[in-house]
This record gives sequence, structure tokens and C-alpha cells, in this order.
Amino acid sequence: MEVKTSLLDNMIGVGDMVLLEPLNEDSFIMNLRNRFDHNEIYTYIGSVVISMNPYRSLPIYTPQKVEEYRNRNFYELSPHIYALADEAYRSLRDQDKDQCILITGESGAGKTEASKLVMSYVAAVCGKGQEVNKVKEQLLQSNPVLEAFGNAKTMRNDNSSRFGKYMDIEFDFKGDPLGGVISNYLLEKSRVCKQPRGERNFHIFYQLLSGASDDTLVKLKLDRDFSKYNYLSLDSANVNGLDDAASFRTVRNAMQIVGFMEAEVQSVLELVAAVLKLGNIEFKPESRVNGFDESRVKDKNDLKEMCELLGIEQSVLERAFSYRTVEAKMEKMSTTLNVAQAYYARDALAKNLYSRLFSWLVTRINESIKAQAKTRHKVMGVLDIYGFEIFEVRDNSFEQFIINYCNEKLQQIFIELTLREEQEEYIREDIEWTNIEYFNNAVICDLIENNQNGILAMLDEECLRPGTVTDDTFLDKLNTICAEHQHFESRLNKNSKFLTDHSLPHSCFRIQHYAGKVLYRVEGFVDKNNDLLYRDLSQAMYKATHSLMRQLFPEGNPAKVNLKRPPTAGFQFKASVGVLMKNLQTKNPNYIRCIKPNDKKVAHIFTDSLVCHQVRYLGLVENVRVRRAGYAFRQPYESCLERYKMLCKKTWPHWRGPARDGVEVLLTDCSVPTEEFAYGRSKIFIRNPRTLFTLEERRRACLEDLATLIQKIYRGWKSRTHFLLLKKSQVVVAAWYRRYAQQNKYQKIKSATLVMQSFIRGWKARNILRQLKYEKRCKEAVTTIAAYWHGTQARMELRRLKTEARNKRAVSVIWAYWQGTKARRELRHLKVAAREKLAVSVIWAGWQGTKARRELRRLKEEARRKHAVAIIWAYWLGLQVRREYRKFFRANAGKKIYDFTIQRIMQKYFLGLKTTTMSPMDNSWPAKPYGFLEGAHTQLRRIFHLWRCKKYRGQFTEEKKAVYEEKLEASEIFKDKKALYPSSVSQPFKGDYLEIQKNPKYQKLNSAMEEKVLLADLVNKINRANGKGSPRLFLLTKSNFVLADQKTGQVKASVPLPDLASVSVSTQSDGFFALKLKEGSASASKGDFLLSSEHLIEIITKLHRIGTTAADRDQINIDISDEFLVQFKQDKVCVKFIQGGPKNGNSAACKRKNNRLLEVSVPSP
Ligand SMILES: Nc1ncnc2c1ncn2[C@@H]1O[C@H](COP(=O)(O)OP(=O)(O)OP(=O)(O)O)[C@@H](O)[C@H]1O
Ligand SMILES: [Mg+2]
Repeated sequence: MEVKTSLLDNMIGVGDMVLLEPLNEDSFIMNLRNRFDHNEIYTYIGSVVISMNPYRSLPIYTPQKVEEYRNRNFYELSPHIYALADEAYRSLRDQDKDQCILITGESGAGKTEASKLVMSYVAAVCGKGQEVNKVKEQLLQSNPVLEAFGNAKTMRNDNSSRFGKYMDIEFDFKGDPLGGVISNYLLEKSRVCKQPRGERNFHIFYQLLSGASDDTLVKLKLDRDFSKYNYLSLDSANVNGLDDAASFRTVRNAMQIVGFMEAEVQSVLELVAAVLKLGNIEFKPESRVNGFDESRVKDKNDLKEMCELLGIEQSVLERAFSYRTVEAKMEKMSTTLNVAQAYYARDALAKNLYSRLFSWLVTRINESIKAQAKTRHKVMGVLDIYGFEIFEVRDNSFEQFIINYCNEKLQQIFIELTLREEQEEYIREDIEWTNIEYFNNAVICDLIENNQNGILAMLDEECLRPGTVTDDTFLDKLNTICAEHQHFESRLNKNSKFLTDHSLPHSCFRIQHYAGKVLYRVEGFVDKNNDLLYRDLSQAMYKATHSLMRQLFPEGNPAKVNLKRPPTAGFQFKASVGVLMKNLQTKNPNYIRCIKPNDKKVAHIFTDSLVCHQVRYLGLVENVRVRRAGYAFRQPYESCLERYKMLCKKTWPHWRGPARDGVEVLLTDCSVPTEEFAYGRSKIFIRNPRTLFTLEERRRACLEDLATLIQKIYRGWKSRTHFLLLKKSQVVVAAWYRRYAQQNKYQKIKSATLVMQSFIRGWKARNILRQLKYEKRCKEAVTTIAAYWHGTQARMELRRLKTEARNKRAVSVIWAYWQGTKARRELRHLKVAAREKLAVSVIWAGWQGTKARRELRRLKEEARRKHAVAIIWAYWLGLQVRREYRKFFRANAGKKIYDFTIQRIMQKYFLGLKTTTMSPMDNSWPAKPYGFLEGAHTQLRRIFHLWRCKKYRGQFTEEKKAVYEEKLEASEIFKDKKALYPSSVSQPFKGDYLEIQKNPKYQKLNSAMEEKVLLADLVNKINRANGKGSPRLFLLTKSNFVLADQKTGQVKASVPLPDLASVSVSTQSDGFFALKLKEGSASASKGDFLLSSEHLIEIITKLHRIGTTAADRDQINIDISDEFLVQFKQDKVCVKFIQGGPKNGNSAACKRKNNRLLEVSVPSP
């Protein structure tokens, strides 16, 4: 259920001044103070919000607060600016009434902050969507831009708005913002050239110099130092809590969001820079022949830079500062300007330039934020305009006069509209209207703005009048014309009562504003009203190539020369105030009256006198009086009934009929005097706050009674509920207990029964058991007796049988013994007989053998004899034959036979040689068959081997030949010198182990090689620091060797071979070798290379071979020793090879022993 709250709940003091009792200035201020001390900075006067500046951030503007106040009635919650904003927005959206929010108060009272709060609240509660959000963002971001250019630090406020601002926010029928229009009023342009002590120029100058990048400043020809610019006051250039640099970034960002182009921003900054430069231009007098003084620019540097920035010809501007052309009736006259006039012209130009730039900015923002849709708009105007300004220390001048005039007008419309609203409400509610006495300030407005004899009209008249015009002549005129006016006071007035008033100096006049008397010093009125800018200057500005500059000075266009004087400042302001008032009158007004609690700009301080002053000139007490002239308080019937229904039995707790009747019954029942209230159509009007407070008091008491009643009923209900609960619990507990007891009893009986039962069953069972046992024993006894009887019988039979068997066995044993003895005796006999037989046969065999041998010997002898006879016979026959045939042979037949025999022998010998293979490795050679062939045999073997080798070589291709040549060279270098050599003999020299041509990984490296690669291998480059090797690609061409990274193929070192002095290797079976570079050669700076490779023999042979074949190079020395020096960059390190296997395997390992020694352990062979 929604709980209806009211402004009247938990009030501190009174939330609405209308309820103040008694009503006077003191109680008013006391109430404000009381609330201020409790952080309640907002208080109402009816629908007007009084806002006290807290000078610190309070947690009352959170999104939760926005939600709290959203769609709630004005008086439903405690006073807040959000309540006013919500009321205004809702009546704009739902009732189609245009609204205006008028925020007034003196400088520093919080007007600008209030206007921002209203805008942000409306932005938070209105519709959402991409387009709407963009519009909202643009409207909100217009604030920082305008504040940068239009706000300045003053004594009263660190961020004082030095212009008046009225912003119309336009909404569509749904209440979504469409755009807006901003109007600006009277920028305090005199600040551009001069600032009072303790105050600053407009923020933008400081922001630009602090926040712009160095680059931008160079472009703008500016220096970051404030002290370099005459127009910037230095004593308060830095303001506490203001970060100009950060603000500059915010402003630039805001300009971008609002829609400024980058070029436009640049142009604006150029004009700001130009103003600063302008301030630095100084003049010196120069006498002329005609006796007149003429001004000349002192130091032309700033002038030059400014002209460069704006694209103005320097001479044109220089002339405009020295001469002035006066045109009258088609005649042109040129007069010289003296130094004072030149300074006046310079400042006038600076002021005009800045104020026009400001107006241009407003127009440009309007272009961006103006509503696009052409449909009818609902409008909410927010007016943030300078409050009443009265300087007591400083002189009030033309500006204050104008400002105060504006406030008079606002007060007038405030009174008018408040009264009108009040009256309208009375009529609406059908309540009789009683006339209200109040001070109408129309008469003061008339004093100022009357077209015939108003002060502004007279000032204009003076300005336009030919002849000498001074501020004094103006004051004289005022004295004559306004003498009779009751609100005008002057010493020279015809009214004699001021003649002796010493508080009124001669050069001043005083006006009794509605808020108090203000003394104005007349000095500068005419000048400021004229706001004169020499035409020469505007023409010079128009000649600029800077497009924005030309736009700002359209009157400088020679084609549009207008001899008419431009309207005066006062005239323009009066006109714009007129338009504003008309605009405001068509709208429903909402007022925020801002009050400043102290002059120190600090929190928690409430200066009574200062607040009293403001309360007085804002006419707030007057306002309360008007508001409660008839009836102080009014409330819709529904809310009234809802709030007070408990005061009457008939209306409590519900009233079924119409609310008005309910209120009537209620008030009658409460005996409220009839003159104290009046019944409107929808509201009840209560005349005195006291009546309301009585009702409130009774309500409070009644609420207490009601609370007691509620408490009583609640307690009764609670106790009864408790009792019922106890009772119910008791029944449950008893039931449970009874069941438990019965259960226990039953369990006992049951177990006793079971015990008895088991005992009886046991006894019975034991009886039966005894019986059965007896029977069983009887049966067993019978069986045992029978068994014993049968046993005895069986044993007796057994004994008999045993005796019988023993007898039988003794007979057979004796028989067996007898038979044995007989058999052995027979055997002995047989053995003797056999021995005898064997001896006979052996003797026989021996005899036979001897006989056979004798026969063999004889036969052999006989055979030999027969053989000898045969040979002798053969010889004999041969001899016979030879003797027979000798006569048939010639003398040399013997030689021929000899030769033939020899030939046959040789033939056989050579044919024997044919079995020898053609392999040069084959060392076999048949044994020599004859001693006489000894020499030939050895020679032949040698020649054959040479021939065979030649034949073998003849089959070689050129490459193979080269390989063998290399092998040969390797053998020449290493054979018997390095233990590694023998194992290398059988390994073919492949050269390109990496297949660098084909391997795509090395494509880049290959293409980097200019010559043919003779050898490409993976080697280890030994690191001097730890003796460890890191893999490298080793490439050798005819003219250099290259070391490259194994992974990337990137060349690490390329050494021309002429730079290589020698190569050192050990005598052992390791693959380490050092490539030593010639001292002083280009490559020597990198130091020697200590490498190791599995193909050391091949690498060194190839290196040596290139040295041998190249005509232009020395032979590369190959030094084979177990200790040699290697030059590593600066140091020489000794590499020493020792025998003895390294711990981790068969390969050699290098280890750093010290700074100068690397030790290589080579495994023993
Ligand atoms: N509601 C607020 N909460 C916190 N601080 C506030 C509030 N209102 C005003 N202030 C403080 O007071 C300072 C002055 O307020 P603001 O600039 O709104 O005054 P102003 O009435 O616009 O003055 P001027 O007429 O000089 O422009 C602000 O800079 C801010 O520090
Ligand atoms: Mg302000």
C-alpha cells in the first residue's frame, strides 16, 4: 500500500514560509537559518522555491532523489528544486502549458547551479532514445562553452556569469526535448580590458594559455605566461579549485559535442588570441607640425603578430590607431588620434571584438541546438540572470543600473504573475477574492524606461545630441526632468531635502529600487551607452582575411556604409528586456529565489545581516504576505481527507462519499470555526496557519492514540495466537506421550511372554533330547559288543593263517638257497673253461699277425724291386731311343727344345698370372714358380700394379678425379699426423651436406651467396665463455667462408679467404679446428673462429686446396699441434687437447678452465 507523505511530515522549522507563525522578517530569517543548519537548503513560499547556497556538495541530487521526486505532487515531499522542476515539466507535458523558470538572486547565490540542476532533472525524467539523448547532450554541453567565454572569477563568485542567459527548451507533444534557443543579455565586456582588484578576466583566456598544447600556442603566437599579457590580471590568475587546463579540455569537448567544426574552434581561438595581442599594443606620442599630438604604435611586434593571425594588413590597422575619419554630409575628414584616444580605440576594439565573438558563439550554438521539427513546440524557458547588484565599496555604474533595471522588471512580472496566479486560483476554486495590498514597482520601472522622460531615454538623448556631451550634462538633465519623481534622489535636485544629504555626492544620483536605495556614479554613463567603435577600426577589421572576423564587423563593409549611429547600449538592452518580458508573460512562471548565506564562499556560515539584506530586496516577506493575504494554506480535498480522516469517527477509517463532503464532516466534527476555512471547487482553503497546525497537532495526538490502539490489538492478537499455539502443542505432546507409554507397556508384556514361551519350549526339548540320547547310546552299545566279538574271531583266524604262510615261505627260501649254490658252482666251472678257450685264440691271432706282416714286407720289397727294374728299364729304353734317334737331330735341336721348354714354362707362368684381379687394392700375386724368374717376377708385379692403377684411373670422371685429388691432398696433410685421418679415408667427400641448393629452408641464404658453394655443413661455434658449442651453418666458396644462423639462415660472419692466415687442429681424433685471421685484416676485428665439425678433414683439405689453386693468395698454413692459441676479439686463449674420455660420451668436449685456457678432452682411441 502506498503511504501518502506530505511536506508537513518531519518538518524542520516550516517547509513552506506561508505557514510561518508569526510572520515577520526575524522569524523568516530564523526559519531559513534553522533549516540551513539542518542541511535543508530549500524552502517554499507557496510554489516559489527559496534556495540557500550550501557552498558544498550535498547528497541530494542523486538519481535516487530524481526517482523520489518524479511524478510526485509538489507538497508531497520536503522542499526541493526537483519538486519545482517536476511540477513545471509535468504541467508542460500533461497540461500543454508553456513554462518558464525564473532564477534570481545576487551574484554567487547559486542561480547558474540551480538552472543546471533544473536542466539535468528534466533531462533525467524526459524521454530517452538515441536522437533525444543527442539533443539533451547538446543542450547540457552548451553550458560549459558559454561559461568559459561568459563567466569570470569575481570577488563574489569564482564562477560568476557575466552575462544574462535565457534558454528556451523546446519539447514535442510527448515531452521529449527537440532543441532549444539561447538568448544572451549584456555581456560585461568592460572586463576584457580591465578587471577590478582580486578579479579575473573571462575564464577562456586562462584556460587557453594553461590548457592548449604547445603546438596550438605556437600557431596562435601565444606564450604560456599570463604575465606577458596586459589584459590579464595577475593577482588572482590562479583560482583555488579551478583547473583551467582541464576546463579547456572540457570546453573543447563540449564544443565538439555541440557541433562546432574544427576550423570554427580554431577561428574562435584565433580571435581570443587576437584580443590578448591587442591588449599588448602600446602607443607613444609623436608631435606633428600642426601642433597636434599623434599616437604611434610603440613596439610593432604584437601588432604584427595580431595582423598575421587575422590576416589584416599591418599598415591599415596602424593607421586606424592613429587617425579617425569623420564623415558628415558626404564629406570626409581625417583627424589624428592622440595617445589617450588610441588607447580608447584599442580597448573599444577589444571589447567589441570579444562581445561580438560571444554573441556569435550563442548564435552558432543556437544553430546546432535549434529544433528540427516544424511542429508546434511546448517550451520551457530557464532564465539565469544577474541578480540585484549593489556595490557599497565600489561605485555602481552604468552596468549595475542596467542590471537593476532588469531586476525591477522581473520583480514586476513576479508580482503581477503571482497575484494573477493567486487570483486565478481563487476564481477557479470559486472563492471570493479580497484585494491585497502590495508595493507595485511599476513606478520605478517607469522612471527608468519611460520613452519620454525615463532615465534611459534621457541618456540616449544626451548621447545623440550635438554639442559637448558629458556625464555631468546628463546628470543635469536628470536633475531637471526627474526632480519630482519620488524614487529619484540627487544633490542638485530641485527637491531641497537632499541638499544637505552628504551621503549623496554631487556626481551621483540615487534610485529607490524596490529592493533598496542604490547610489549610481554618473561617470562613464555616456561613454558606455554610446559604446563607440571608430569606423576606421571596423573597416580595418572587415578587411581581414579571417572569415569569422569579417562576419563580426559587417558595418565595416564599405559597400554598406551607414551614417546612422548604431543603437545605444541602453536602448538595445531595454528592447531585449521588453522582448524577454513579453515572452515570460505568455508562460506559466516558476520561481527560484537564490540566497547567498555568507560572503566568504564557505559552507556552514549563515550571516544574518547578509541574508536579511537579500530577503529584503527579493521582497520575500512581501511575497509570503501576498500569498497568504486571503487563505494561507490550500489543499485538495482528497489529500486533506486522507491526512486528517482519523480526527473524526465518521471519516475513519474510510469515507465512502465524495471527498469534499468528507472534509466538511471532518471540519465540523473538529469544531473548526467556519471563518477559518472556505470550500473551493477542488481544494479546501485554510485562512490561518494556526488552524492547520492545530489540525496537525490533533492529527499527531490521534496518530499516537491510533498507534496505541493498533499496539493493543496487535498485542492481544499476538498473545491469543501464542496461547492457541501453546494449547495445540500441549494436546499434541499429551497424545504423543500416551502413545509412548502404551507402547512401552506392550513391549514389556510381549517380551515376558516370549521369555516364558521359550523356557517351556526349552524344557520340552530337553526331555525329548534326553530320550533320544538314551536310545542312541543303547544302539551304540549293541554295535560295539558285536564288533568286539567279530574282531576276536577275525584275529584268531588271522593268527592261524599267518602261521600257515610262515611255514610255506621257509620251505621256498631253503629251496632257493640250494638252487643258488648249485648255480654258482656251475658258473665257476663255465668261467674257467672260457678262459682257457680265449688264451688259445689270442695266441693264434698273434701268430697269424706276425705271419701277415712278414708277407707284407716281402711283397713291398718285391714291388720296389719290380719298380726299380721298370725305371732302369725305362731309362735304358730312353737311352736306347736317344741313341737310336740322336742321328736324326740337328745340331741346335737341343736349344730349340730348350727354348720350347722355356717358352712352355713361361706360357704356363703367364697363364698362371691371369687369375690376378684388376683391383688396385688387390695385393695378391702368384708365388714365383722358378728361381730364375725372381727379378722379372718382382718387376712384373710392380709394372702390372702401375698399369692396373693407370687403367683404374682412366675410368674416372672429372669430379671423381677431383675427389680423389682431394683425398690425396688430405692424406698429404693429415696422414700420420692426425688420429682422425684414418677414419675419414673411407668417408666420401660430399661437400654440400646441407643440400643448400635444394633445401627451401636455405633458399634465402643460398641466394645471398654470390659464388658456387663448395662446402656447406653444420658446425659448432665454440663459445669462449663456457666452451659450449652453438650450431652454425658453415659455407665455403672459392673466395670466402661464411657462418650463418642455423635457424634463420641469417649470415653472421663472412670472411674473405685472403684474410685467413692459418688453420690449427690437434693431432687427435677430435673435430675441433681454429680459423685464424690475419692480423690487421678487415675481418680480424671479430677475432678467430674456434669451430668443431664432423667433417674436419674435408673442410681443412678444401680450404688448403683453394689456397693451393688460387694464384693470388698465399698458401694457408695448417698447424697440427695439441696446443695452439686462438685470438678471441681482444684476448688470446690457449686451446689445449688432452687425452682421456670426457664424462658424457665418445665425442670430444671443450671446457673453459680459466680466462686464458680452453681444454678439450678427447676420448682415448
Ligand atoms: N546547490 C548547490 N550545491 C552546492 N554548491 C552550490 C550550489 N549552488 C551554488 N553552489 C556553489 O556556489 C557557487 C556559485 O554559484 P553560481 O555560479 O550558481 O552563482 P550565481 O548565482 O550564478 O552567481 P553569478 O550571478 O555571479 O553568476 C558555485 O560555483 C558552487 O560552488
Ligand atoms: Mg551565474
